Amino acid sequence: MNIVEIIKKKRNGGKLTRREISYLIHGYLDGEVADYQITAFLMAVYFRGMDDEETINLTEIMLNSGDIIDLSRIKGVKVDKHSTGGVGDKTSLILAPQLASLGVFVPMISGRGLGHTGGTLDKLESIPGFRINMDVEEYKKTLEKVGCVMIGQTTKIAPADKKIYALRDVTATVDSLPLIISSILSKKHAEGAEALVFDVKIGTGANLQDEKESEKLAKQLVSVSKKFGTKAIAVLTDMNQPLGNKIGNWLETEECIEVMKGKKVDDLLKVNNVLAGAMLLLAGKAKDIDEGEIIAGQAIDNGTAYNKFLEMVEVQDGDVSYIKDYKNLKRPAHSHKFVSEKEGYITKLDAFNIGVASVELGAGRKTAEDKIDYLSGIILSKKCGDKVSHGEVICELFAENEDRIINAKEYVKRAIEIGDEKKSQRKLIIDIID
Ligand code: URA
Repeated sequence: MNIVEIIKKKRNGGKLTRREISYLIHGYLDGEVADYQITAFLMAVYFRGMDDEETINLTEIMLNSGDIIDLSRIKGVKVDKHSTGGVGDKTSLILAPQLASLGVFVPMISGRGLGHTGGTLDKLESIPGFRINMDVEEYKKTLEKVGCVMIGQTTKIAPADKKIYALRDVTATVDSLPLIISSILSKKHAEGAEALVFDVKIGTGANLQDEKESEKLAKQLVSVSKKFGTKAIAVLTDMNQPLGNKIGNWLETEECIEVMKGKKVDDLLKVNNVLAGAMLLLAGKAKDIDEGEIIAGQAIDNGTAYNKFLEMVEVQDGDVSYIKDYKNLKRPAHSHKFVSEKEGYITKLDAFNIGVASVELGAGRKTAEDKIDYLSGIILSKKCGDKVSHGEVICELFAENEDRIINAKEYVKRAIEIGDEKKSQRKLIIDIID
């Protein structure tokens, strides 16, 4: 087979056979296909798409590129959740310990930041020492001991996604339905969960800008999971504005700690607890999502989710004292308060531009080699619908140097609209598909 001919076939809108996709993916893992060739292929898929059969073949080939973990020795239900990617989208850090504290095992393989959206692994690594690499045996032992474990793809677990994901992040090939489906499902089906909840983001800050495409993504994530024998629910949630008030790796971790310690961040708590409710339903621990939402809320209120979070951080070599010291704010050298130039109501806080601003500040990558600045990011003092007066702070930007703040300000300016009248907002939970 000829790699250039395969790329050309997809570039011209052809349908690839299973053998051709397999040749390409295995060739890439073996080092015979170069980064620039796989990038050309990804861009061809971006423009030409893939039909259902190609998408399932790509997913299966990526899944089988590494080990599929057998968790049958762990007695109890294993349920995980995965988000399609958003801004300020930090629920994984709460959900894993929260569900574990309720007796549900959560084996979680996550990704890094992708495009303008944040990634769980980068957030976890904002905790000094936190180790996201483990071999399969340690992964199982940790899950058994703590009830949850959070790691990244490795050379053994979902290796194709590990390599392709890093390339997509810096080659503008994130927002493609077949690439998102194969990326998510190859990781998620490798990790050994019996049931999955998908948080499919809809809105400007989602990975797929077209809302109809996001709905299609939700349906396909559920239907392809079922084909692989895994129960699944997709919750479609709003991503027109960031979730919660903090964006950036440590800032988001800090907000999760605050929430687990009792702070009421309404939108974050709502989305989090509905997802938790869906996980509890799939685990057989709630009769429906509403009941699950209440049970999940109790695990936050009584402190068991936070205690489990500390246990997980400790077992994964994270610095627990850094977490306990969260009130002693950790901020980078420079900050800038973005104030309102008029009085009115916030009518738009565009999640996409806020996400790009946070990348400019150092919270995401523009090239594969870029180092994340874990403390950089944005704190929102206002959300859509809030009243703002002239000169009042809307948000604060944080970065290691002034230049980053100057660049980010342009995107923040584009993100915000202030009107004379309060506009009604879309519901946070848009739909649930099972
Ligand atoms: N999450 C993933 O794991 N992969 C994607 O492509 C998008 C979100």
